[in-house]
Amino acid sequence: MLKHLSKEEGDAPLGSQSPPAKRPCPDLQVPWNPEVDLCWHTLVRGASDECEPEWCESEDPLFILYTSGSTGKPKGVLHTLSGYMLYTALTFKLVFDYQPDDVYWCTADIGWITGHSYITYGPLANGATSVLFEGLPTYPDVSRMWEIVDKYHVTKFYTAPTAIRLLMKYGREPVQKYKRDSLKVLGTVGEPINPEAWQWYYSVVGEKRCPIVDTFWQTETGGHVLTPLPAATPMKPGSATFPFFGVVPAVLNESGEELEGASEGYLVFKQPWPGVMRTVYGNQQRFETTYFKKFPGYYVTGDGCRRDKDGYYWITGRIDDMLNVSGHLLSTAEVESALAEHEAVAEAAVVGRPHPVKGESLYCFVTLTDGVTYSRTLEAELKKQGKIMRRVLRKIACDERDLGDISTLADSSVVEHLFQNRCCVGV
Ligand code: WT7
Repeated sequence: MLKHLSKEEGDAPLGSQSPPAKRPCPDLQVPWNPEVDLCWHTLVRGASDECEPEWCESEDPLFILYTSGSTGKPKGVLHTLSGYMLYTALTFKLVFDYQPDDVYWCTADIGWITGHSYITYGPLANGATSVLFEGLPTYPDVSRMWEIVDKYHVTKFYTAPTAIRLLMKYGREPVQKYKRDSLKVLGTVGEPINPEAWQWYYSVVGEKRCPIVDTFWQTETGGHVLTPLPAATPMKPGSATFPFFGVVPAVLNESGEELEGASEGYLVFKQPWPGVMRTVYGNQQRFETTYFKKFPGYYVTGDGCRRDKDGYYWITGRIDDMLNVSGHLLSTAEVESALAEHEAVAEAAVVGRPHPVKGESLYCFVTLTDGVTYSRTLEAELKKQGKIMRRVLRKIACDERDLGDISTLADSSVVEHLFQNRCCVGV
């Protein structure tokens, strides 16, 4: 890659004031701080081709990745070396049926767990050829993904339902402009995939040739825990199907009893697997409380699920105060406290509202401090920033008038006011 750089691209001096223009989109320049930012191209030019491995213990920490916590502060999920590497390598190999001549493309951001496990560690541990993409599925046009698939002959493609729903809106034509005949397996991750999006992915993108692997997992699990194996597991649109090898799920009721056969309840796991997180960084107590306290002896995912009569698992969504916006988990408490930190805000409450593309979107209610008037500028500021009757608020968010009993509200006229002034503060 480096050999192909033009002169000016590779020529920023170390510690220069501004980064060289390397992006196709000149207005996307990142702010440059010469004290901490170094130019990759300049650095690697002088680097050796060989890198001696650093010998480590198998349980040495590998990385910490922060994920939202339902009680507010994000948790530092700590993964360790060997178990995580083994697990991402093995799941990558089996779930995508990796073959040496594959060209694999995962569209996630590297900074999220999907990018860690399935752009970095899993594919690299298998020596896979992998496409790294920094950009948007709609830029410069909505055929971008399929153009790249054809350009590099991508065989295994991994993306999120939110991207599929976004592209679905533009119809088949932008997809069919490209051949996509190299594709063999299509993956999805991050949120439940609605059957309509599944069908579109399967029929339009994969032309009914490519199995879909709907992979359920979490930052905490390190890698796939419920997933089909392509062409081996009969698919059901919208179901993450069965546990991966070594993963033992159970469905519990509110009293913590294991349910048998077709049932619905809390999704938990009964034994660890190599890639599971080891602790919450700096807070082992929080690790135990969050994942093991509610149902002692089980790892609690925080998701609800249904198991059908054939043993297939269907994720029904979060059962805590967490929202999933475009595959990104957000805690309502976290957004509320971010809003409340703004000096104009007296109180804030945040609920989820179904969104046709993002899965869910944030719907934020704010009470302003006395004397402050609402303005577009304030709204913009609040969007940047990031406990009340949620039941009622959820209905207002969905414009449903059937509110049930609201007699305990201090001032019920506020409800009508909110209905009259509904406006969406999206993320
Ligand atoms: C939460 C984990 C997994 C990497 C990206 C997100 C939801 C994830 C699926 C799926 C239904 C899914 C769950 C889970 N989720 N994959 N295939 N079907 N829901 O990682 O930010 O840790 O979020 O994403 O709610 O708990 P994360």
